[in-house]
Parts: sequence; structure tokens; C-alpha cells
Amino acid sequence: MNRLSFLVTTEIPSPGMEILRAAGTVHVPGFRLSPEELSRECASGSYDVVVSQLRDRLDADLLARARLTGISNYAAGFDNIDISAAARHSIMVGNTPGILTDATADVTLLLILATARRAVEADALMRAGRYMGWEPQFMLGLDVSGATLGLAGFGRIARATARRAIAFGMKIIFCPRPPGHRPVTAGELAEFGGEARAVGWDELVATSDFLSLHVPLSPETHHLVDEDVLGRMKSSAILINTARGPVVDEPALVRALRNGGIAAAGLDVYENEPSMSPGLAELPNTVLLPHLGSATTSVRAEMARICARNAVAMAGGNRPEHEVVAGVPAP
Ligand code: GLV
Ligand code: GLV
Repeated sequence: MNRLSFLVTTEIPSPGMEILRAAGTVHVPGFRLSPEELSRECASGSYDVVVSQLRDRLDADLLARARLTGISNYAAGFDNIDISAAARHSIMVGNTPGILTDATADVTLLLILATARRAVEADALMRAGRYMGWEPQFMLGLDVSGATLGLAGFGRIARATARRAIAFGMKIIFCPRPPGHRPVTAGELAEFGGEARAVGWDELVATSDFLSLHVPLSPETHHLVDEDVLGRMKSSAILINTARGPVVDEPALVRALRNGGIAAAGLDVYENEPSMSPGLAELPNTVLLPHLGSATTSVRAEMARICARNAVAMAGGNRPEHEVVAGVPAP
């Protein structure tokens, strides 16, 4: 019997590597493959499945040449893969949804609290030895309790964020598939007992004290938050992005933060990762994390297990447990 063969572009946590090694031959290059090298490896016919990362771009050109039965993406998101091109070439795609929901919602709350209470600015001041003692007017921030949290999107991560925010006394409004709309089922709302209200995108933008993004990156959501939207937000509003960088026009965000168009931003993702738009890092009213949404030891280990099981299934010609299907939008 032919051994299954895997190309793992970047080593994943050991529970996943063990599953792959038990099932077949695993090749880990040990350096970052260039786009050309990745394309050549995928076309070589040496591998059944590639285990990919968000930074590996699997575009239509690469997929047209690829000789693979599947792509197992080590992420919930899959905007790095041209899903319809994969389908055209009968290449299955797996992802790791669900398990990183709570961890990512935690990071969303972390950014809401840190921006509202100026945690990073305050920490820098302490470390610089600039704390001169308690003062009535020192480093005042914004109330989270009583503030309106507007959720762009109403998938798993948005709903997990809403549950946490309700515990902090926030009012929840949401737009389920901005900039358009989709009907919301009673089932989706049941757990919130009337504490979350669906609104249109324009109302969400204009009335949120915190506007938090929870949409997949797609042509519809690219630059969802642009100059115009930033201009329609309250000047006291805070933008939170734990979704995907290109959902925000980052240079426009820098301008809005600089000229008082909005009050602050908490970001975990960037338009051109790993770089940041000039100016962003110099602004005091930003909290900047390096894409840590799913970064806990246990979540990354579980992602590795799911990713490896998806890979083994596809290498054996079977559908993966978590399959990304062309034309079906993310929740
Ligand atoms: C992280 O951004 C993921 O999609 O898993
Ligand atoms: C991500 O897993 C989401 O469904 O929001």
C-alpha cells in the first residue's frame, strides 16, 4: 500500500504532527517556502495533501497546476485559498472552525477593555517611571458598562463576544451580514433573551460606541470599514478588529485616529500582515496585538488535531470532518 504523503509548510503543534506521522510520510521544509517553491511542491505529485497556514497563498494559478487531493488549512479562516478554484480542480479543503471561538472572543473583550481603559498607554507610562501618584483627572477612559457594542457579523465568534459583553453590562446590537442583511432566526437570538437587537449596517455604524468586526474576508467585506464608514462613526467610538485586516482600509483608519474621527482602535489583524500601516504604531489611542485570537496552548493543540485528521481523511480520498465548501458562506 502506498503511504500517504503530506507537505506541512510550517510545523504544527505535536498532537497534529503525531497524527500525520502515524498516517504517512511528512515533509516539513524547515524554512518558509516562497510562493514559487510552494507552487512547485504542490505541482510535484509528491504529496497527497498540503497542510497550509494563512500566510500560504493557494491561488487559482497554483491550484490549476497542483496535484493534490486536499488542502488542510491550519485556521478557521480560509481567505488564503481560492475555494472555487480548488473545487474546479477537485481539491478538497479542510479548516478548523468552532474550537477557537471562545479564545477569539476573549481577545475581542481584551481589546474592548484595553482600549476603553487605556491599558497599553498606562502600562508604558508605569514602565517609563512616569507615574506621579493618584490624581482625580489622570488617564481617564470610557465606560464599558452601559456602552453599545455593535457587532458586524453574527457568527460563532460574534455571539461568544455578545455573551461576554452582556456580562459587562454592554448593550448589544448587530448586523448579521454587513453591508447587506440576512434574516436572523429565532434560534440565533434565543440565548440572548431580548438583549441583542439586529439593525442595518448604517445604524450599526452610526450608533455603536464599540464597533467590533466578525466577518470573514470576502469581496463583499473587503474595506467594509473605509473612509466613508469611519466618517459616519461617532467621534467617541472605538473600532475593534479580530477578524481580518483587509476588512478595514488601514491608511484611512490611521487618518481617522489621528484627526479625531474616531477615539481609538484595538486591532489583532492588519491589512498587510505582518506589516502595519505607517503611523499606526505611533498613535497612543491604539492597542495592537499580533494576530493572537486563537493563540492559547490548548486551542492551538486542538486545531492541530483537527487539521491533521482533516488531512488524513483527504489523503485517503475521504471528505474531511470540517470541510470548506465553495459557495457556502462562513457562518
Ligand atoms: C485565524 O485567524 C484563523 O482563521 O484561524
Ligand atoms: C468562526 O469560527 C466563526 O464562525 O465566527
